Amino acid sequence: MATTQVPGTESGELDSARIARGAEARDAGTTISTVSLSRETLDEADARAREIEQQLTDDERFSLIFSVMGHVPGGLAGPRDPRIPEDLENMSAGYTPGVPRLGIPAIQSSDASMGITNPGYRPDDKGATAFPSLIALGASFNPQLVREGGEAIAREARIRGFNVQLAGGCNLARDPRNGRNFEYFSEDPYLSAVLAAEQVNGIQSQGVVSTLKHYTLNCNETNRHWLDALIDPVAHRESDLLTFQIAIERSQPGSIMSGYNKINGEYAGGNRHLLNDVLKDAWGYKGWVMSDWGATLGWEFALNGLDQESGAQADRVMWGKEPFTSDLKEAYTSGKLPKERLSDMVRRILRSLFAVGADNWGSAPPVDMDRHDAVALEGARQGIVLLKNDGVLPLASDAPLKIAVIGGYAQQGVISGTGSGAVSPVGGFAGVIKIGGAGVMGKHRNLFLFAPSPLEELKKAFPKAQFDFDPGYTPAEAALTAKRCDVVIAFGIRVEGEGFDSVDLSLPWGQDAVIDAVATANPNTIVVVETGNPVSMPWRDKVRAILEAWYPGQSGARAIADVLAGRVNPSGRLPITFPESLAQTPRPELPGLGTPWGSAVTIDYNEGAEIGYRWFAKKGAKPMFAFGHGLSYTTFEYSDLKVSGGETVTASFDVKNVGKHAGADVPQLYLTDAAGEKRMRLLGFERVTLEPGENRRITLGADPRLLARFDGEVGKWSIAEGAHQVAIGKSAADLVLRGDTYLSARQFGV
Ligand code: GLC
Repeated sequence: MATTQVPGTESGELDSARIARGAEARDAGTTISTVSLSRETLDEADARAREIEQQLTDDERFSLIFSVMGHVPGGLAGPRDPRIPEDLENMSAGYTPGVPRLGIPAIQSSDASMGITNPGYRPDDKGATAFPSLIALGASFNPQLVREGGEAIAREARIRGFNVQLAGGCNLARDPRNGRNFEYFSEDPYLSAVLAAEQVNGIQSQGVVSTLKHYTLNCNETNRHWLDALIDPVAHRESDLLTFQIAIERSQPGSIMSGYNKINGEYAGGNRHLLNDVLKDAWGYKGWVMSDWGATLGWEFALNGLDQESGAQADRVMWGKEPFTSDLKEAYTSGKLPKERLSDMVRRILRSLFAVGADNWGSAPPVDMDRHDAVALEGARQGIVLLKNDGVLPLASDAPLKIAVIGGYAQQGVISGTGSGAVSPVGGFAGVIKIGGAGVMGKHRNLFLFAPSPLEELKKAFPKAQFDFDPGYTPAEAALTAKRCDVVIAFGIRVEGEGFDSVDLSLPWGQDAVIDAVATANPNTIVVVETGNPVSMPWRDKVRAILEAWYPGQSGARAIADVLAGRVNPSGRLPITFPESLAQTPRPELPGLGTPWGSAVTIDYNEGAEIGYRWFAKKGAKPMFAFGHGLSYTTFEYSDLKVSGGETVTASFDVKNVGKHAGADVPQLYLTDAAGEKRMRLLGFERVTLEPGENRRITLGADPRLLARFDGEVGKWSIAEGAHQVAIGKSAADLVLRGDTYLSARQFGV
């Protein structure tokens, strides 16, 4: 199996600075897409899958098209499933027996995008690296860094025997209340596709199959198992489906995981149009479609494109049966399930295992947990977005300040998102506070804390300062602490997670009132928020600086201290628009919010492809903070834009660091008008690190589908004849250079 080891990721001591330089140096921005599996490897895998599949018995075929969940004490799956061998050391989210006589390995799948999870499958597991949330990596706009995180996650999977990583979350952040936005990269199809592809490439380069998930339109958690997501089919092709399409092209994921919800009335796991017509026929996808856990409602899903039922016990709990281990066999016997379809289901699974080499692993690549911690630190650093700064930051690290640290459990750690993606770090959590809630995910809804704590790291960063910590338990008490200090660093946190949407954009537990009180008591207030989504920040005009640190993973506290002390120049850019309020969004009222678990919900995503910044551009509205926004401790200037046409739009321009500090910037290329039609689309971006005075010329070419409309009648993309206006922006709302080029009309692609 010819895989390309990404240069500089050889094992060995790699400090975060080298990782940062490496990631920058190799980071050709949006042009990095080197699929880690060569065409030759994929073709070989297809051939071997055809050859091996023919040698299987029908019983062996049926043994491959479902998985069972590992045992978690008190978990959904109930007692240890007898289909899992007694001697299996490491259980995980999914187990499928192999066929040893033909060299087919058992398939073991693990969650997820932020590291190797362990909600209780493996009582003796010492813990895994807890990487930053995907929305934090989305804010890094750094494909190479995402790829290095994927490599590290896969190495920690392999030493546990896991050959499938359920990663690659790339649903679009359509709704700022969605509880799982922290597990996805952004609101933009192109940014999400490029980054998701690199996570898959990183994982698969290490011999582990990765998924992309959740196909598609899994953009809210409210009653997700009974949620019908409506969307105009053309707009779907131009947004969520385009995300999967570009990510699949750039990474060849071994598997696609279908989501829980319905799309236009058909469950994702059995949606014939989306699975057969679009994914497999139009796009030619050759990997396998696995269901989500508890998302296979009937054997007919096999006819509609589902290749594997995942977590069969969950279907028994949710729907009263395991369709692919019972009814499907009867359908086969009665001829309703054609033999060729059963063979196709199995071939797809085999070819993806063979493509990454999961059938001939040999010795696992070394796992360097210090290096993984450095990758996690770099991800946290590059994901931090400096939203506001009146000049108070960076704080002088040698100043004998009296610093008040307020709230956010900052004396214990930084927080994580919850659900199937939550990682138990090495050494365990610094704290777990139960929150609870309705439905199957209620017991997983906890406030998880990762050490080290921000307070601990701030004390190291400001050795001459005197610290006062206040838990933020009441506004009045916190204000007294704030009043007696020179500077206040207030933390605002919000636990978000799988199975739940936030009701609004406020911080819970009265934190907004606490922050308002401390800022009133001491105007020298800096706020650090740890959230998985935008929040409303009613106190924002009263504070001097605001950092969004997201769920920054196990190294988050160090990254926060690095930025506050100026050891790291913040470079994160918002991957999701922060609205002034929900009134500015397509759905101020979220249908189904507050209805009992099990209620049917219909959400009409009538914004279509105009998600986030695109919606604000269409409405001419001004958000609180725009997509792409992020401040730096230095200043970048753009000049000399040249735009050319032809098959697509290409833009070249200069970026110069005109400030006093080295730093990274992320200039963005936007379409603003296509042949007279106002339409905002991110066409490209590049993360670039510059020394003071350094200038770099950047060239970005657009994927032509981002310039086009999808013509549902003919199933092709159409570029309209005429002038196409583009702009270089510091954000979607701060367009600095403008230009245009003439494109001829043409139809192309699928
Ligand atoms: C979950 C999630 C999915 C995860 C799977 C296995 O409910 O929706 O993202 O990979 O089940 O835990």
